[in-house]
Amino acid sequence: MGGLIAGGTDPADIVATVRRAERADQLAKRHHGITAIAGAEEPENNKQAATGSGVVILGVKPVGIADLAREIGDSLARDTIVISVAAAVSLEQLEAALPAGQPVIRSMPNTPAQLGRGVISVSPGTHCSPAQLQLAKDLLASAGTVVEIPEDQVDALSAISGSGPAYAFYLAEAMADAGVVLGLDRELSLLIARETVAGAGLMLAEAGADAAALRKAVTSPNGTTERAIATFDARGLPAIIADGARAAAERAAEITKQLG
Ligand SMILES: NC(=O)c1ccc[n+]([C@@H]2O[C@H](COP(=O)([O-])OP(=O)(O)OC[C@H]3O[C@@H](n4cnc5c(N)ncnc54)[C@H](OP(=O)(O)O)[C@@H]3O)[C@@H](O)[C@H]2O)c1
Repeated sequence: MGGLIAGGTDPADIVATVRRAERADQLAKRHHGITAIAGAEEPENNKQAATGSGVVILGVKPVGIADLAREIGDSLARDTIVISVAAAVSLEQLEAALPAGQPVIRSMPNTPAQLGRGVISVSPGTHCSPAQLQLAKDLLASAGTVVEIPEDQVDALSAISGSGPAYAFYLAEAMADAGVVLGLDRELSLLIARETVAGAGLMLAEAGADAAALRKAVTSPNGTTERAIATFDARGLPAIIADGARAAAERAAEITKQLG
């Protein structure tokens, strides 16, 4: 929602439903001008929010998506675009829970979308027209970079961009720990690791940036960085990262199966 509003969506056009009243208050304060209503006590609220909406974004936990889709199904117009951001819920599962013929898009965003720097995938369902897909892409582009992918690549994308912010934070944690081992004060080490990962992220965010070229630019022959990278390579760090990403993708496939 933050990304959508920063990108020019009129907050007055947004209706958000949540379960708890205090959460609705928080959202209304954070995103001034939206309508935020608590849904669980008054199940009609989800239906009312869906009624007359051009786009409905489902953002509950994967296990609750099908029930929510069934709950609002009768309130949707035939051309309302339903976008699900739930991990592991397939287009087939979504379409089965919605009225026949409903345009559906499966999307996988990541948390930097809050800052307008997300990666947001879109995979159109059977009944989504090219114009409806374009409308959804334009809307989501305000939250970051939109990529269209076939559904069978969503688990792979999720393993890189969906979980990826956690990998970058994990790197910052490991760097801070390494600084402490080298004798730095923990507070100082946390600060310099955080700012270094954030600063490097900003360099990568420049148009046309190339991670390998940026890395080589700070790696002088026979210098200190070269020694560190050689150690990472010798210990097989790229293979470890590939193993982690594969495990994430496999877990997504497992959850899809469990959701039936
Ligand atoms: N977190 C990520 O980085 C990320 C990335 C990609 C995709 N996703 C997907 O995003 C979805 C949400 O994940 P999350 O981590 O943000 O979960 P979350 O913090 O639990 O958020 C779920 C929200 O849905 C509300 N809610 C639950 N049931 C509802 C209902 N029946 N009617 C209306 N509102 C309801 C909750 O309200 P209350 O706050 O009142 O409980 C809560 O605000 C998941 O499907 C996840 O797979 C998350």
